[in-house]
Amino acid sequence: MMIKRPQRRGRNFFGMISGAPQMEELFGLLERVARADVSVLVRGETGTGKELVARAIHELSPRQGKAFRAVNCASFNSELLASELFGHVRGAFTGAVKDRRGLFALADGGSVFLDEIAEIPLEVQARLLRVLQEQRFVPVGGTDAVKVDVRLISATNKALRREVEQGRFREDLMYRVRVVPIFLPPLVERQGDIELLVWHFIEEFNAREGMPRRIEGLSEEAFEALQSYGWPGNVRELRNVIEYAFVVGEGEVLAYGDLPPELRGEGPVDSRELERGGGESGRSERQEIVAALRAAGGSREDAASALGISRTTLWRRMKEYGIED
Ligand SMILES: Nc1ncnc2c1ncn2[C@@H]1O[C@H](COP(=O)(O)OP(=O)(O)OP(=O)(O)O)[C@@H](O)[C@H]1O
Ligand SMILES: [Mg+2]
Repeated sequence: MMIKRPQRRGRNFFGMISGAPQMEELFGLLERVARADVSVLVRGETGTGKELVARAIHELSPRQGKAFRAVNCASFNSELLASELFGHVRGAFTGAVKDRRGLFALADGGSVFLDEIAEIPLEVQARLLRVLQEQRFVPVGGTDAVKVDVRLISATNKALRREVEQGRFREDLMYRVRVVPIFLPPLVERQGDIELLVWHFIEEFNAREGMPRRIEGLSEEAFEALQSYGWPGNVRELRNVIEYAFVVGEGEVLAYGDLPPELRGEGPVDSRELERGGGESGRSERQEIVAALRAAGGSREDAASALGISRTTLWRRMKEYGIED
């Protein structure tokens, strides 16, 4: 049986598609927070949409229409990051052949987005603190302070509090950057969003020029695998998985075999044992599954974890063996 696109469509909030209640609440919070000119720290796992949140805040704020400048703090060493943020004067260091304006100067009147803020080296943290306290900074190698008016939006997938405890992040800076902390939930916690996003990305790739196939539906197995996967890479990973399926598979039904190995992945040891048709007890695989389901009171989730296989595999084996709930 082919699973088709549901009627229900999510909301598109500045590029963030969702129909989950927590996200609805979050969108409301973003609207309120954006209006106040305070520093916001967005916290969430990789691929949850932290950058989209940062942009949404800027767009909803009175600074909309002014500059929005983003930098990933993890991709520079200390010296280069300082220069990236605050600029430098000619001769400040080897390679500084002319004056250069930094991000804070370029974003004057607008917003600066510091991604992976937990990775800022301590030396640069001291300078950043000064910008937040005084709205002024001195370019690297320079003598005169430059005045700026920027709003700071930062993001991290780490708990800053822990970074503070371990001496890697200044406590005073932590309070300055997270006047309002915003937590972005992992994809698996957003009820209904996996399905919504699967279809959102299918439509995106269906519309893309040069795609080798058009997808109109999902096989039950594929659907179940997408639903039961843990999505450690969140929305970004989901988008990649759909793109992968467009490229490796054929025809209008997205099949189980079109999914990358992680989604078809099994618990390493136990599942192989099961594959060979029975564990030490000598029972058949079918008996093992029935016993596990009974012991779990019919809960597939519990039975799968007792068997050391994914819910998807369990579901598939139940179909193979004709086991009803
Ligand atoms: N709710 C959503 N709806 C549609 N697309 C989304 C959603 N959330 C994220 N995306 C897309 O997923 C990708 C990852 O989002 P983004 O870069 O904002 O994540 P991130 O939290 O900043 O990740 P990282 O921590 O790895 O930098 C982007 O392509 C983004 O457009
Ligand atoms: Mg990001």
